[in-house]
Amino acid sequence: MAVETTLSIIKPDATRRNLTGKINARFEESGLQIVAQKKIWLTRNQAEAFYEVHKERAFFDDLCNFMISGAVVVQVLQGENAIAENRKIMGATNPVNAEEGTIRRDFAENVEANSVHGSDSAENAKKEISFFFSELEIVG
Ligand code: CMP
Repeated sequence: MAVETTLSIIKPDATRRNLTGKINARFEESGLQIVAQKKIWLTRNQAEAFYEVHKERAFFDDLCNFMISGAVVVQVLQGENAIAENRKIMGATNPVNAEEGTIRRDFAENVEANSVHGSDSAENAKKEISFFFSELEIVG
């Protein structure tokens, strides 16, 4: 097993409901370390650039509007198999399909307001981390 880093975003539905601490506890209790973290308010351009891979999808516009509807917490998580581990802790994209005990099952409102984002591959983790953080901001 390898130590990896992955990008996580605590989305506006969760920051609005003051759930940052509860969500961070899920990561830490699972052995992931938060090695970088900041609270920001995305611009429309940033949201569109971050989700560019989804730009042809019907939900793209709504997704971008949602992501700029409030503050987000962007963070880098580190640990053994952090990318897959984080996806397990988050649960399925749609909370209706998420397993019991996962963040999305417990906190998400719907498929759009689904509380958290996590990178889905090593390649995307690298891209997404560098979208928000410089190397100097990551303290492992
Ligand atoms: P996320 O992991 O941030 O990646 C893309 C996001 O699009 C996804 O989580 C969902 O919140 C959002 N989304 C909205 N509608 C849909 C949909 N119908 N199918 C998949 N993702 C959706």
